[in-house]
Amino acid sequence: MTGITARNVTARYNGSPVLAGVDLEVGRGEWLVVIGPNGAGKTTLVRALSGAVSTTGEVVLGGRRLSEMRRREVAALVAVVPQIPIVPEGVTVFDYVLLGRTPYIPYWRMEGPQDRRRVASVLERLDLAGLAGRPVSSVSGGERQRAVLARALAQDASILLLDEPTTALDLGHQQQVLELVDELRLESDLVVISTMHDLTFAAQFGDRIMLLVDGRVVTEGTPAEVLQAQVIANHFGATVEVIPGPDGPVVLPVRVKN
Ligand SMILES: Nc1ncnc2c1ncn2[C@@H]1O[C@H](COP(=O)(O)OP(=O)(O)OP(=O)(O)O)[C@@H](O)[C@H]1O
Ligand SMILES: [Mg+2]
Repeated sequence: MTGITARNVTARYNGSPVLAGVDLEVGRGEWLVVIGPNGAGKTTLVRALSGAVSTTGEVVLGGRRLSEMRRREVAALVAVVPQIPIVPEGVTVFDYVLLGRTPYIPYWRMEGPQDRRRVASVLERLDLAGLAGRPVSSVSGGERQRAVLARALAQDASILLLDEPTTALDLGHQQQVLELVDELRLESDLVVISTMHDLTFAAQFGDRIMLLVDGRVVTEGTPAEVLQAQVIANHFGATVEVIPGPDGPVVLPVRVKN
């Protein structure tokens, strides 16, 4: 099975374009990080790739056109971790993660023991086993973010779309979650597309980085090609030094002294 391809994807809200002619191609086992300033269209792109917003252009998932697939078929192929997840009230962490198994549970049946085992193993890997019985609405912001990721992983999809999956996490959990995604990507040849504001993490985990500004792809390439101080100054209005690190460029914010 092939990965994900988008051609000329354009999305509008109230008539004004927020994505304009985006092309991308990500193969099995590859991780593309989408960066860009607030409002650039990153979340809209993630939503467009999973069919959550209507677009013109074409998205092809695993060789099939998204526009011709049923929701359930899309869910068996694509798991999404949204930037602002909607978490149902009163549902435990375990049952919330179990929702990830929905594409595999026939309409007329309950989940089976293998679904519960899959959930238990994902909870274990994300340090959430101790919270399994707690209402998801009562856990901390970072724990909730990990629960949302757990639900996506329990879905066993081959394409993972992660919209700022680590923003609410402490540094240790950011590393843990990104390493876990990376391990799963290598283990199962997953396609990973994530948005990220931390440019150093983007460089460490992305095979390629795409810079999106005002709904358009400004540049795409290896971390070293894209993450240049001048590019970051131009598009983020940020003053940084880019220094070589052990796993690619390190983007260091610096203060401008007068
Ligand atoms: N439902 C909506 N209705 C109208 N405009 C929207 C809607 N969702 C997003 N937009 C607008 O589309 C543009 C792109 O938004 P998007 O959320 O995709 O940006 P982003 O790159 O994810 O930003 P951030 O880094 O802040 O998450 C913004 O100008 C935003 O205000
Ligand atoms: Mg966003």
